[in-house]
Amino acid sequence: MQRPVVGHWRKILLLVYSLPLFSYATLADHMNVQLIAPQYITHGSTAILLCNHTVTDDLLHKIEFMKGEKRIFQYIKERNPPYIPDKPVYIDGAKMEFSKNGTTIKLHNVRYEASGIYCCEVTMTTPIYTASADPVQMKVIFPQSENPRITFKKSVYVVGESLEANCSSSPAHPVPYITWFINGEEVDIALVTHYPHTSYHKNHLMFATAKLKVEVSALHAGQNGHLEISCQATIPAFPTHHEQFADIKKKTVSVQIIPAPDVTSSAAILIRELTLSTILCILSAMHEFIP
Ligand SMILES: *[C@@H]1O[C@H](CO)[C@@H](O)[C@H](O)[C@H]1NC(C)=O
Ligand SMILES: *[C@@H]1O[C@H](CO)[C@@H](O)[C@H](O)[C@H]1NC(C)=O
Ligand SMILES: *[C@@H]1O[C@H](CO)[C@@H](O)[C@H](O)[C@H]1NC(C)=O
Repeated sequence: MQRPVVGHWRKILLLVYSLPLFSYATLADHMNVQLIAPQYITHGSTAILLCNHTVTDDLLHKIEFMKGEKRIFQYIKERNPPYIPDKPVYIDGAKMEFSKNGTTIKLHNVRYEASGIYCCEVTMTTPIYTASADPVQMKVIFPQSENPRITFKKSVYVVGESLEANCSSSPAHPVPYITWFINGEEVDIALVTHYPHTSYHKNHLMFATAKLKVEVSALHAGQNGHLEISCQATIPAFPTHHEQFADIKKKTVSVQIIPAPDVTSSAAILIRELTLSTILCILSAMHEFIP
């Protein structure tokens, strides 16, 4: 007879005990850690890496930054001082500085060696729980200083002729990727020859050269009789998921197109007319003999 009542109390006790656990678990579930860092950073500049998290200050235990497998910075709130290292230091390829609350590190004067995969982790106290951010691959680049250069043998072409032009990027790191456009449309890769990169004496810079070879057709010449060719040099070769390039330089030149003298077609018409009149001639002659 008493059993249902005991069962009832058990349920209530269970509920009371699990309530704080449940809310801590929810806190952990909703713990969000995100590393905000640049994918591309210019050689010599400052990269800011923010470990953005949702742990409130009273529950925060630890924040750590990693580069690859290596821990480069650690913040433990209860420790004195909370930071390791506890002052700005040189890590591979940069001078590292940190914010007071441990959420941000700054990498000053970045060199190529600072490129790598960065990550951060946050640990909360109750319940003890650690969450990692998605790693960010950061690349130190040396952008192009100038627009690419387009060279070609002549600037006037007759329809049917082959147009050949070279484009060279200015030196950069990594080597820029060249894309050709005709009248604003990307050129079929079959018409483009990429030459091996050329090294430049300092800062591991390289420049790219690519040749465009296309037979000029009447379609190429717009209403003004000009064809526009553009060369775009980018780092990286293709845009990232944000549809952006870290570095982009472009050069456009205009070449004049002269229509081909209409020799073949006028000759064809002449022959056709000749044939027709010959047949008519024969027909009328036959008509005279066969009434
Ligand atoms: C940090 O995260 C919060 C939410 O989790 C977001 O609202 C905020 O914009 C983020 N900060 C930055 C700098 O992206
Ligand atoms: C921590 O410090 C950084 C830089 O000083 C600041 O941008 C950020 O808002 C601070 N975050 C918190 C949670 O106090
Ligand atoms: C383009 O560059 C290649 C390789 O340097 C060279 O052989 C070729 O003559 C150049 N063509 C033009 C049109 O400048």
